[in-house]
Amino acid sequence: MFFIANWKMFGGLNSLNSINKVLGFLKKFKSTRLAKIIYCPPNTLICPMAKKLKSTRIDVGAQNCHKSESFGAFTGSINSSMLRNVGAKYVIIGHSENRSEGENDKLINLKIKSAIKSGLKVIFCIGETLKEKRKKVTNKILNKQMSIGLKKIRNKKNIIIAYEPVWAIGTGLVPNSKDLRKTVDFIKGKNKNLKVLYGGSVNPKNINELKNIKNIDGFLIGGASQDPKKFIDIIKKTYN
Ligand code: PGA
Repeated sequence: MFFIANWKMFGGLNSLNSINKVLGFLKKFKSTRLAKIIYCPPNTLICPMAKKLKSTRIDVGAQNCHKSESFGAFTGSINSSMLRNVGAKYVIIGHSENRSEGENDKLINLKIKSAIKSGLKVIFCIGETLKEKRKKVTNKILNKQMSIGLKKIRNKKNIIIAYEPVWAIGTGLVPNSKDLRKTVDFIKGKNKNLKVLYGGSVNPKNINELKNIKNIDGFLIGGASQDPKKFIDIIKKTYN
């Protein structure tokens, strides 16, 4: 199971200490051997975090990257090879918080291709808005996001899909188990052999229900991942 911590635009150097608790927990609990933990901090923390976690089981990822893996005159941007260079192994691409800032499926496709070229593993986010859910067009939207986002990518072995309904992110809401299982099945049907994670308001309470949805391969955790106690609780309960 994957447990991916998306810190979003939170955290300074002192936040790195909070990972000590998680490292201590991993040493103690043998059942977590199967847990793959990835921290995606803001870009400013990737390098120090990767150094800190170098000989541990935890990997580091970024939250976005530029569409070009080469250097260029793009003020304020960071590309996939630069992320790899400072120790990132993963990158989240297509998060709804970036889609809402104007990132479209075509740009996401270019970013995914560039990340793969640089040797990063991609956590590709898809999800419908509340309006789309109400219109019952969830599968149509997901299909569009996947077919454009993954266009002309033949080798998908370094791609993990994260299903994150936009209406569930940061709201405390989660889809009901039946709907979620069906949607994850739909995504897996379109992408044979790819891992599919769920993200959106995962917390130590709802994990008891979410962990029983057997086709889910892990979780992308925002708010709760910034609190080591909550993050540990989520991992612990998944294996209990
Ligand atoms: P949340 O965020 O857990 O705070 O809802 C999840 C995400 O945006 O990846």
